Amino acid sequence: MNTPNYQAAYNVATRMRNVSSSAIRDLLKHAAEPGMISLAGGLPAPDLFDFEGLAKASADVMRDAPVSALQYGVTAGQPDLRKALVELMNTRGAAVDANDIVVTTGSQQGIDLMARVMLDKDDIVCIERPSYLAAIQTFALSEAKFVGVEVDDHGMDVDALEKMLDTCAVKPKMIYTVATFANPSGATMSLARRKKLLQLAVKHEVFVVEDDPYGELRSRGDSLPPLITIAKEIPGATAWCGYVSTLSKILSPGFRIGWMILPAALRNYAEIAKQGMDLHTSTFTQAVAARYLESGRLYERLPSIRASYKERNEALADALKRHLAGALTYVQPDGGMFLWAKWCDTKINSAALLKFALPEKMIFVPGEHFYADQPLHHSIRLSFATPTPKQLDEGIRRLAVAVAKMRISSTDGIAQAA
Ligand SMILES: Cc1ncc(COP(=O)(O)O)c(C=O)c1O
Repeated sequence: MNTPNYQAAYNVATRMRNVSSSAIRDLLKHAAEPGMISLAGGLPAPDLFDFEGLAKASADVMRDAPVSALQYGVTAGQPDLRKALVELMNTRGAAVDANDIVVTTGSQQGIDLMARVMLDKDDIVCIERPSYLAAIQTFALSEAKFVGVEVDDHGMDVDALEKMLDTCAVKPKMIYTVATFANPSGATMSLARRKKLLQLAVKHEVFVVEDDPYGELRSRGDSLPPLITIAKEIPGATAWCGYVSTLSKILSPGFRIGWMILPAALRNYAEIAKQGMDLHTSTFTQAVAARYLESGRLYERLPSIRASYKERNEALADALKRHLAGALTYVQPDGGMFLWAKWCDTKINSAALLKFALPEKMIFVPGEHFYADQPLHHSIRLSFATPTPKQLDEGIRRLAVAVAKMRISSTDGIAQAA
């Protein structure tokens, strides 16, 4: 029996009509198929989860403070966790106070809160080209308009941003950047560009949000300070930038623990918006995360977590050299979870290629999904986070087979996207 289509009758909100489901979340359904090698999602490597440490932290919480872990909590977050996050931020070179922190349900909620606080319909948000898909989705739900700023090996092209800000008829409300090991580009914004970005934010009174899920996962080179730290050296800049981060990539995404650091006036609005969304983030996972951070285990384990992602990062680069030499242009990222590449043969459409990769039992994300407009169809995002080095090699071998089969199957050697 056909299910009646109620879409018109329901008359859903206008903002829902032009948004689609995340291509990555849809692809993740395939990732669970037997034998599939997924270079699609940015899922942390399961072998890096600290089952033992988290079991102990959970047991400690239930023994020592079960009531506060099970009761409703304050919207800004539990004091123990906020205190532990102050320590974590210190290790990142940011001196903050516990009161500066709002705990969020994943950093995704932090992005959503920024959109709710800042964006009205048709407001302009500047994003990197390419940019994090779920941020694009969130801003689209706010019915914002996008201005894309190109990214190169050193992150967002701030000279292009300057030109745009100097000449635009309508000033953007917000600039969203993943400045370190960006998703999807893998690029890291240089110190000089970070400074210039903040100077532009002050000059044009545009609020910059730095989203930093991957900064801890450095494979090589020296860490760069977050924008909120650099802002202290630039007159006026602390008022024009905020920071969003998460425990998802270094502890567990299932915990859904993120946090945001904002100037006081915006923080108040963010708290009010959060009250309307979920009252507060899970007190239980906050308590366990706080215990875990206090135990020091994360800091003990971070070097081996970094080493493991570095090994995977290298394994992917080696596999590309072995199986797809000369076929792609890319810069190997200095950390994070993603390698961004473009087919040298620009006629290769990655979305079409995915259809040939699926039967070979490998998946990736076509780069086109990371653009709000004018997508580059020959771009591709390869995640090295979840597979083992051996699986990465096999996954790229399968990708090379998919490319070969696609060339054979199409009359001009290149399949087009359906
Ligand atoms: C750039 C970026 N921001 C935010 C998130 C959301 O992370 P979470 O909500 O799990 O903290 C992700 C997840 O992949 C991401 O890549």
